[in-house]
Amino acid sequence: MPKPIFGGNWKMHKTMQQAVRTVGELKKEIQNLDEVEVVVFPPFTALSSVKAVIEGSSIALGAQNMHEKEEGAYTGEISSSMLLDVGCEYVILGHSERRQYFGETDNQINKKARAALSSGLIPILCVGERLKERKDGKAEEIVSVQLRGCLEGIDLQGGEKLVIAYEPVWAIGTGETATPEQAQEMHRFIRITLEELLGKEIAYSIRIQYGGSAKPDNIKGLMCQPDIDGALVGGASLEASSFARIIKYKE
Ligand code: 13P
Repeated sequence: MPKPIFGGNWKMHKTMQQAVRTVGELKKEIQNLDEVEVVVFPPFTALSSVKAVIEGSSIALGAQNMHEKEEGAYTGEISSSMLLDVGCEYVILGHSERRQYFGETDNQINKKARAALSSGLIPILCVGERLKERKDGKAEEIVSVQLRGCLEGIDLQGGEKLVIAYEPVWAIGTGETATPEQAQEMHRFIRITLEELLGKEIAYSIRIQYGGSAKPDNIKGLMCQPDIDGALVGGASLEASSFARIIKYKE
């Protein structure tokens, strides 16, 4: 099994100075921890200064979004080569906030995922249902459509890496976490769908993160589940100490 992966998605938080301070503290807190992978996702404006702090450590850098085109007249956008240039290894794609507030569609996310993979970035592809969809018994159907749409034409036969983040929209920033059983059930469903789309070997090499009010006090229960391979953490990653407690959930 590949290493569990913990991501700290800082969303639209932190100036350069604040980001540097937080990642510096995190670096100290998780020294010599090599059984998990840790990635921080600062805002674009802090990528370069955070990179300078984590250089030589085991913390990796990621961006929260990118544009699918390599360059051109796309005011305000950032391409994969720009992210690689600043030292990113990962990029979050299709976060529910991008879908909800910026109208991103599965088709667009698919284009971004293809561009990321061919440039050598590792996409963290986010999927997840809204509360009403869960209440209507449609959670699996929604996640299946998202996975199929976002992964269309992608086979990972060249050994490219990909991570999936299951983030039920009703659990993001609400304090309401999916129970370990609810999360496991959907992670299992995602694994089976990946098996169908990409084959068994690749499906089991893909890490599936849980995201949505992951906290130091609920992480252990989630990580005990067989198909939960890490977490994508929002609020609780803003403080180095709470993010570190999540990362060191075994202690
Ligand atoms: P919270 O951990 O704040 O619920 O956010 C989850 C998330 O959206 C991570 O990408």
